[in-house]
This record gives sequence, structure tokens and C-alpha cells, in this order.
Amino acid sequence: MKNAVAAALLLLAVPAHADESQIQLREGPGRVLVQANCITCHSLDYIPMNSVFLDHAGWQKVVDKMIRVMGAPIRPEDVGPIVDYLAAAYGRPAG
Ligand code: HEC
Repeated sequence: MKNAVAAALLLLAVPAHADESQIQLREGPGRVLVQANCITCHSLDYIPMNSVFLDHAGWQKVVDKMIRVMGAPIRPEDVGPIVDYLAAAYGRPAG
């Protein structure tokens, strides 16, 4: 019962044009920046899908590539917080 109510509220909160690409990222500093900067070209699914492989340096490379190769308009001062968030929330465990 409680779950049904929560699900209904969730549906109401999602804009009408939203599709399955609207995934909920893990909580953490920088999450808002990632949501704002990484959804313009592809689904946020790419983040959890790649978390198996990437550590902090790996995420740094991905974000650099999104900017330099794909042309992502990410402000230079946002790159650090974005990479730190990705490594903390979706980084490959060290070792
Ligand atoms: C300007 C468009 C654009 C933006 C903005 C963008 N990406 Fe991408 N991204 C792409 C394209 C194009 C690909 C590769 C083609 C594909 O597979 O869809 C890609 C692929 C990826 C991949 C798959 C691995 C790889 O290296 O190809 C990951 C992970 C990824 N993006 C993460 C991110 C993250 C994190 C952000 C935000 C910091 C972001 N992207 C923002 C265009 C973008």
C-alpha cells in the first residue's frame, strides 16, 4: 500500500515527456551537476553501466572525452566536482 502511493507520487513528479532514460543517480555532492551536464546527449544509464570499469582517472578521461571529442559544454570549474562525484558514487572499487 505504502509502495503504491510512493509509485503514484513518483509518476506525478516525472514530466509527461520523460522516458525510461530518467534514472535516479546516487546521492552525493556533485550529483546535480552530473544530472544537468550529462543528460543532454545520452541517457544517464551510461554512468552506472560504465561504473564497473572506471576509477577516478578513468572517469576523468571519460569527462575529458565528452568535452573535447563530443563537445559537451561543461564549465571548467564543474569538471572537478563532476569527476569526484562519478568516482565516489560510481567508481570501480580500488584494488
Ligand atoms: C555533447 C554531447 C554529450 C554530453 C554532454 C555528454 N556525453 Fe557522454 N557520450 C556522448 C557520445 C556521442 C558518446 C558515444 C556514443 C554513444 O555510445 O552514444 C558518449 C558516451 C559516453 C559514455 C560511454 C563510454 C565512452 O567513453 O564512450 C560514458 C560513460 C559517458 N558518455 C558519460 C558521460 C558523462 C559522465 C557526461 C557528463 C559529464 C557526458 N557523458 C556528457 C556525448 C555526450
